[in-house]
Amino acid sequence: TYVIAEPCVDVQDKACIDECPVDCIYEGPRMLYIHPDECVDCGACEPVCPVEAIYYEDDVPAELAAYTKVNAEFFDALGSPGGASGHGAAEADHPHVAGLPAQAP
Ligand code: F3S
Ligand code: F3S
Repeated sequence: TYVIAEPCVDVQDKACIDECPVDCIYEGPRMLYIHPDECVDCGACEPVCPVEAIYYEDDVPAELAAYTKVNAEFFDALGSPGGASGHGAAEADHPHVAGLPAQAP
């Protein structure tokens, strides 16, 4: 799977959403999350993110390693909706993200 990491927080550019052929990038209040079971590893999202928040799971930098779990655990409550556009934005972020101070632009 691919993983969205901390640079997305409070930025939420959403260019990634338009590239995903399986609609597996889901919105939270402060960042977006990739569904690890729905992502087909096409990689189309990664180069379009203006803040380079997206990584292939094997390439997540050590300082951002927590985000692999953050993306996966975000879906503990949501399950596998099978499409982000039909689901709409979630009401809460993963606690790790919700607890971050506001990120400077
Ligand atoms: Fe976030 Fe980058 Fe997508 S800022 S919403 S991961 S384009
Ligand atoms: Fe979609 Fe990116 Fe995966 S475009 S299929 S989330 S690699």
